Amino acid sequence: MHRILYVSTPAPNLTITEVEDIVARSRVKNHDCKVTGFLCGSSRFFIQCIEGEQTDIENLFDMIKHDGRHHNVQVLHQGPCDSRMFSNWDMGVVLYMDRHQKIIDRYTVGQSFNPYTLEPEQCLNLLMDFSKLKNDF
Ligand SMILES: Cc1cc2nc3c(=O)[nH]c(=O)nc-3n(C[C@H](O)[C@H](O)[C@H](O)COP(=O)(O)O)c2cc1C
Repeated sequence: MHRILYVSTPAPNLTITEVEDIVARSRVKNHDCKVTGFLCGSSRFFIQCIEGEQTDIENLFDMIKHDGRHHNVQVLHQGPCDSRMFSNWDMGVVLYMDRHQKIIDRYTVGQSFNPYTLEPEQCLNLLMDFSKLKNDF
């Protein structure tokens, strides 16, 4: 089992409909290749964890990192894992991270929330916290 955790920045002109389309297609494709994971989004950041067989995850991430719908893709963690953290989701999603300020505050160091500077473990905890919410779209 393999896991990749990354942070990225949405393309400036990306619409919510386009993000919903990414999620809908991802759910079908991830289900087909037994990939699970979780995606958090806002106008400023994407944070995503994907987990599954190593080749599937590496191939998928290769597509994701070259996807023009986001940029500045930075891997926080990549490597083998014993079990899935997000086994219940083909792709769980919270698209409006900003609406959950209490969670964001827990992971804010200094003035503003910046997931690029989070420790990998913290960032996974953040995704876990969001995964306990009901999907918000
Ligand atoms: C933030 C973000 C997350 C994505 N997550 C996934 C994912 O979990 N699974 C997936 O198949 N594609 C995901 N994609 C889309 C891929 O980059 C790529 O467009 C897709 O796999 C290509 O397949 P398609 O042509 O069938 O849509 C994501 C894209 C972005 C921008």
